[in-house]
Amino acid sequence: MTQDEMKRAVASAARDYVAAHLPAGAILGVGTGSTANYFIDEIATIKERLGGAVASSEATRVRLESHGIRVLDLNDVEEMEIYVDGADEIDGGMAMIKGGGGALTREKIVAAVAKTFVCICDESKQVTTLGRFPLPVEVIPMARAQVARELGKLGGVAKLREGFITDNGNLILDVHGLTITQPVALETQIDGIVGVVTSGLFARRGADVLLLATARGVVSRTRAAL
Ligand code: A5P
Repeated sequence: MTQDEMKRAVASAARDYVAAHLPAGAILGVGTGSTANYFIDEIATIKERLGGAVASSEATRVRLESHGIRVLDLNDVEEMEIYVDGADEIDGGMAMIKGGGGALTREKIVAAVAKTFVCICDESKQVTTLGRFPLPVEVIPMARAQVARELGKLGGVAKLREGFITDNGNLILDVHGLTITQPVALETQIDGIVGVVTSGLFARRGADVLLLATARGVVSRTRAAL
């Protein structure tokens, strides 16, 4: 199976997961990226079941609406059962690096509301230790240089993502060279730097369910089983 075929397979498995676990009329949170895009195409087939969707980016909003799926403002949503999103890396404790597509802040906000975070990815994203994928950090533009210096003190090399502005009007620093053995502590440290909006470390609120596409098919793991 190619990586693309694995993304399609896991998107289809996630559609089945939603069909089985999302109460009729409930709200679904939807992530961003190429795997999430396949998932959006899949849930178009069960859109009558959904009370609506909350999008984690403008790109996701546009794709959901192109399928006739109603997109809700998160401020109008009190409860969300399930959030489905991809990841750039996921470790054995279900902590993730996200934000390769730059949507990390909205992804983290929507994930915080959801009762269950379902991560969908192919096996190339599974790692023992997070950090080979450069860690995206969203920063307020005027704080870019200061935040880059602070990230340097944590052992990383922060590079500005050239020509990229987030949906929130901010910049992304991609932090290279980190070996993330304590993801919860590092997330707390980075998110505490003045000028940082969010880091792409999803450790304090990691995935609850992992649907992982492998060459032998899609396998599932739950945080409760760890
Ligand atoms: C978007 O900002 C990211 O968090 C994506 O969810 C993540 O990069 C995975 O994307 P792909 O499915 O395209 O690999």
